[in-house]
Amino acid sequence: MRLRRKTTIQVKSPEQIASMREAGLVVARTLKVLADAVRPGITTTDLDRIAEREIRASGATPSFLGYQGYPASICASVNETIVHGIPGPAQRLRDGDIISIDCGAVLDGWHGDAAVTVAVGQITAEDQALMDACEAALWAGLARALPGSRLGDISSAVERAVIASGPYGIVREYTGHGIGSAMHMFPDVPNFGEPGTGPRLTAGMALAIEPMITRGGERTIELADGWTVVTADASRAAHFEHTVAITPDGPWVLTAEDGGISRLRQHHHGTKRPAPTIPPKGNSSAG
Ligand code: MF3
Ligand code: CO
Repeated sequence: MRLRRKTTIQVKSPEQIASMREAGLVVARTLKVLADAVRPGITTTDLDRIAEREIRASGATPSFLGYQGYPASICASVNETIVHGIPGPAQRLRDGDIISIDCGAVLDGWHGDAAVTVAVGQITAEDQALMDACEAALWAGLARALPGSRLGDISSAVERAVIASGPYGIVREYTGHGIGSAMHMFPDVPNFGEPGTGPRLTAGMALAIEPMITRGGERTIELADGWTVVTADASRAAHFEHTVAITPDGPWVLTAEDGGISRLRQHHHGTKRPAPTIPPKGNSSAG
């Protein structure tokens, strides 16, 4: 027998969303330090150590470390690895690689989760286009994180953006997720779907949207370590992720330093303001 899965989306108060923003900023700043550290010759364990140090220096805790036995503070997924690559001291980055770095932090009990794919040295135009397509699809989905939308509106916006960018594989076996007082919460957020379907979104909900796309097919293989997920056809993959809160004023991208304002300006769907600037309660100097 299985326990019945939760089928309601956690709704946070504005104060709780402000706490999630603080966790999100820790993740944003950590990913920025990591992206700047990426270069030929560095190992993925070096990156993991930097991440753990940054997260703890902010007073937060790496949420991946120990999660279902996961042994590191980041996932480091190189080239044909899609997600959940485990950092290792023997995994040295080389010129022309692409690396997806996924990072999560918990602060005062609230979670932030985000990922970026970055170039190692000089990469090909094809790999750059893959990364750009994935990031554009993420932002197309984030722009649909509006009160009154349905989950399928986000999923379908992601899917359509990928299709519009080129003949990429859209990974179906892994999804985004609800997020809040736990990293992985109801609902799953697929990177494909039908507009007008799925749960209705309301202010106070938060989602981690995370497209994973490939230069080939969509089939995946999990390696014997129980974590690393690679493309079945060895094509290269990209992965971008943000944590977004649904607010009365529109999407608030909690893991983007500017709350998403600059990127969301390019997409607006029915809100007067493209992104809110809600100050955390009792703090007038919100970022
Ligand atoms: N962002 C990843 C996800 O949502 C989290 C990595 S899972 C972990 O799947 F186990 F590594 F923490
Ligand atoms: Co996630």
